[in-house]
Amino acid sequence: MEYLEVQGGNPLRGEINISGSKNATFPILSAALLVKGRMHFSNVPKILDVLTFTKVLESLGVGVEEDTDGFTLDTSKDISSIKDSHPEEHNLRGTQTLLGALIGRTGEAKLSSLGGCNIGTRPIDLHLKGMQALGVDLKWEEGFLTAKVKDKLQGNLIYLDFPSVGATENIIIASTLAEGETIIQNGAREPEIRDLINFLNACGANIEMNGSGIIKIKGVNALKPADYSIISDRIEAATYLIMGIATRGDVKVRNCNPYYFEPVIMKLKEAGAEVDVYDKEVRGRFRDHIRGINVKTLPFPGFPTDVQPQMMAFLSRAEGTSVIIETIFENRFRVAEELTKMGANIKIEGNTAVITGVSSLNGANVNVPDLRGGAALLIAALSAEGTSRIYDPIHIDRGYENIIEKINKVGGIVERKAESRIL
Ligand code: EPZ
Repeated sequence: MEYLEVQGGNPLRGEINISGSKNATFPILSAALLVKGRMHFSNVPKILDVLTFTKVLESLGVGVEEDTDGFTLDTSKDISSIKDSHPEEHNLRGTQTLLGALIGRTGEAKLSSLGGCNIGTRPIDLHLKGMQALGVDLKWEEGFLTAKVKDKLQGNLIYLDFPSVGATENIIIASTLAEGETIIQNGAREPEIRDLINFLNACGANIEMNGSGIIKIKGVNALKPADYSIISDRIEAATYLIMGIATRGDVKVRNCNPYYFEPVIMKLKEAGAEVDVYDKEVRGRFRDHIRGINVKTLPFPGFPTDVQPQMMAFLSRAEGTSVIIETIFENRFRVAEELTKMGANIKIEGNTAVITGVSSLNGANVNVPDLRGGAALLIAALSAEGTSRIYDPIHIDRGYENIIEKINKVGGIVERKAESRIL
């Protein structure tokens, strides 16, 4: 049984380079299927989910060559429209955008489940609403979602009841080569959506996104290959910024875009941290104390749900009481139970967590419930007194490139170990 052994109590001090965005990589590599040719993608994070995703692409007939900075995809051969579940795909929500990509490329798609961390039921009704509006027939057959273009992909006006990131991405991808214009109302506005649009426009698409969730896609006949560099990972940047302050240290995150995680910066300042913002760097320092604050997660540009568990760990040692309201996913407080094992005082009532700050946390044996919960446990263990064991670290490896090396380089003491089985 693998675990991370963490010595707590050392303030982290130094600089951490931020990798490319996990959640921009999936839709962009999916959208590459709309283009025939070779394209190089740089600044791609070499994390477990991305490596699994490239194996899924290969299973569809895409040529994949890895290099130090990213991958070259060759999409010139025939592409299969059937994506079976890959053995390592366990919780990979990232493959969801293959739905729109395969429909756009081949006119049909057959996908096993759309996966995702168990932070909620992860419905796909908005994905289906969008595909149907574009002229696609969809049905579930023996555990597979099967999609087929009835006649041709036809642009349409689509209102999203919720600004779903995945559904917005699938509609953009599927409508890029459709006839006519598609307008998405109440679309998601996350930076990863902007990055997907920038990539597609670099290939010759005609897509505009204004600041209020209106996205206009004018269908084009064909796209041409373009090389592309993925934006930085705003969730990774926010995670390390919080980690530095939580350990009473001083960490600068580099190669990032502060605008992408502005709400996190503002809330850290509100809690009493010193945060200096530069063009492509943000420095976070612990000053003299951290006070309790209130946080409510919202779609971009609100406070990101993917930083909520990390904030819960951070506020566990704040002076006073904090309230976190999670409005995006219905089961994203699972890490609270593990934090309680370390001495945190957290009460959960529905989508509200009330955190009564404690002066210190103590090292403990804990289990990672999901990707961002794992990051939260690392933050807590590094700022706790004593040693912790964090079991099931594979969830963390899914979304954080070289996380142990990055933490130890700034003074953390984290070691990956395995318990020898007795029988
Ligand atoms: C993406 O998931 C991200 N994953 C998530 O990051 C992120 O938390 C989420 O967007 C919100 O920002 C990837 O990009 C691979 P949604 P996605 O569709 O697309 C409801 C991480 O830690 N909904 O915006 O699945 C849904 O139930 C991961 O990196 C519907 O009701 O998120 C949820 O309540 C976790 N019907 C809300 O929308 C639908 O058809 C947000 O889901 C689709 C979604």
